[in-house]
Amino acid sequence: MLEEMFNPNSIAVVGASNNREKIGNILVRNIKTSYRGKLYPINLKEPEIEGLKAYSSLKEIGSKVDLVIISVPREAVVDVMMEAGEAGTRAAVIITSGFREVDEKGKELELKIMEVAKKYSIRFLGPNTMGFITPSFNATFAYEDVKQGNIAIIAQSGGMGAYMLDWAEKTKTGLSYFVSLGNQTDLNEIDIFHFLADDLNTKAIFSYIEGVADGERFLAEVPDITTKKPVVFIKGGTGKYGAMAVQTHTGSIAGSIELFRAAVKTVGGILVDNLDDFLNLVAIIQSDEKFLSDILVVTNSGGHGVLTTDEIERQSLSLINLTDSMKTELRKILPDQSTPKNPLDLSGDASGERFMMAMDLIKGLECTKIVLVQELATVSCVEVAKVLAKFKGRKIVGVMMGKDSESALRILSSAGIPGYNFPEDAVKAIKHIVNVRPPVKKIRISEPVKGSLDLIKGKSTLSDEFSFKLMSLYGIRVPEWDIVSTLDEAKSFCNKIGYPVVMKVSSDQPIHKTEIGGVIMNIDENNLESSFKTLISKMGKVMIQKQLSGVEVFLGGLNDASFGPSILTGPGGIYVEVLKSISYGLVPISENEALEMMTESKVLSLLQARKRNYDVDATIRAITGMSRMIEDLGIKEMDINPLIVTQDDAYAVDIRIVL
Ligand code: COA
Repeated sequence: MLEEMFNPNSIAVVGASNNREKIGNILVRNIKTSYRGKLYPINLKEPEIEGLKAYSSLKEIGSKVDLVIISVPREAVVDVMMEAGEAGTRAAVIITSGFREVDEKGKELELKIMEVAKKYSIRFLGPNTMGFITPSFNATFAYEDVKQGNIAIIAQSGGMGAYMLDWAEKTKTGLSYFVSLGNQTDLNEIDIFHFLADDLNTKAIFSYIEGVADGERFLAEVPDITTKKPVVFIKGGTGKYGAMAVQTHTGSIAGSIELFRAAVKTVGGILVDNLDDFLNLVAIIQSDEKFLSDILVVTNSGGHGVLTTDEIERQSLSLINLTDSMKTELRKILPDQSTPKNPLDLSGDASGERFMMAMDLIKGLECTKIVLVQELATVSCVEVAKVLAKFKGRKIVGVMMGKDSESALRILSSAGIPGYNFPEDAVKAIKHIVNVRPPVKKIRISEPVKGSLDLIKGKSTLSDEFSFKLMSLYGIRVPEWDIVSTLDEAKSFCNKIGYPVVMKVSSDQPIHKTEIGGVIMNIDENNLESSFKTLISKMGKVMIQKQLSGVEVFLGGLNDASFGPSILTGPGGIYVEVLKSISYGLVPISENEALEMMTESKVLSLLQARKRNYDVDATIRAITGMSRMIEDLGIKEMDINPLIVTQDDAYAVDIRIVL
């Protein structure tokens, strides 16, 4: 579908100009110097542009043009698109900005462009895009002279795209494609991913994104792309103010970063937190080696070794133990003052030769080897880089610290070995690549449990009574409960279930009961009457539950505008707000995913800390039950807080549901 866009036989630039300051001129020059096909500048009055014959319209060319690049004022774009359609063009790039990201008029024009495109089956990039670069031509108005290579960059923001091009030029990183997405009125990141996934020049896709236009499509289609090559994301607009900036920027709505993180994990992508990590990953991905989370650190500086191992621990990677036989071998090449261990300190007097001997010994170990050299009188970074270059394929990452580090990094780069200036960068890059998960496709089928639809029919919120009944239908345990309105009813129910009990005001609306003083615990025969009277005066109905003791867990569910039904979990009760240790997952949640979410949010540690034996399986069942429930019933928002996990089950004791 995108062949005509990225491999056209002919290109027209509408809005071409002889004024070298204008974008329409820069586009013509950039394309002219790189493109071997036919190039047609279109200008209303000029006979010639940059030495090429110019045409007054697309029609005047007289034959079909594969790709039309539009750089005329916004009012003229719709007409140009119509003309392109009439002339048989099926691919366009609209550089012009000033559409939905600016005002209502712009929004209207953008809709019209889409209508015309649909009518003529034109696929287009933009508007508000910088254009794109392919291995054979540069159709942007950026000047960067980018080296050819195998990394594709996709950027939603033109400015960020320009920065990344600049960075690629400075670091001599070779690019296969660069695509500035603009407003994504038609083509969005997923369309471009599909093209790049099958492109032989591209080894990995790096994508700067601010908002996912179509979350369902993202979840359904990106797994097919990550199975072919790594897809790395960095997301802008993650904070509150960042998100506001995004809305007025490209007009896209930034979703919550936590759900985006869960979505990237699900589709088998890599999400990095900042540009440094984004750029550091390039070296590791380009090396094509299968790095492992088990690491051996080799260095000539004890201090650097310690710093590196600290970072390894912070990133939850692990250090390997050296076997006794390996230690014996290493002892033979180390000075007396050095003891072979991990980190392996070759000592401050290590020469290039000692690095060589050590590498020979450790090269076969099944682990990642971070080799860090601090330039000293006895050894330079370049010497060590030359040694490492002989060990391609041995899962080596170099860290070069010294005056000659840049030359050393170049040596490593030509040898296909990832190299860094700082150990933290190396460790984080390894972390990102080893943490990639096999992609999971979320297949959502709604099959409401018998009787559940009757409970929710026609309602926008659910009463306590119906919420509790719904839990039971979905296999989530609740404590013995009743809702009463007289003291006699209260007494007889308490006597039936035994003490202590908890009383709560009962409402037909979802309310935070604790916040209005609506929950009384530790009730027995002595304070039953006074407690009942306090609560009945507030709401007119009181819920009585058997009092349980256990670990309080929070379970939340929501229907995200972008990614659909999702689940949250974390330490419950008041700790939800205090600790904010929440893990997110996209529905349907498997048992394994539920366990992972419990691990990530530290719920699992709470259940198992100090040999405590609270019911992990029951908690998993509650999470998967809730996952089914919100999917089946299209619940907008709900929370169970707390779910009390005892030694032999997990009970939803407070439930709020918004339909
Ligand atoms: N057909 C052919 N040529 C046309 C035309 C049409 N329908 N309408 C205008 N032109 C010509 C103009 O005469 C002019 O040529 P000239 O220099 O010989 O007079 C040329 O096209 C450009 O038009 P002009 O009116 O001078 O506009 P401009 O170059 O100042 O601005 C844009 C045009 C598209 C660059 C501008 O509107 C814009 O959107 N700029 C922002 C682009 C951007 O930042 N994109 C996103 C990046 S992330």
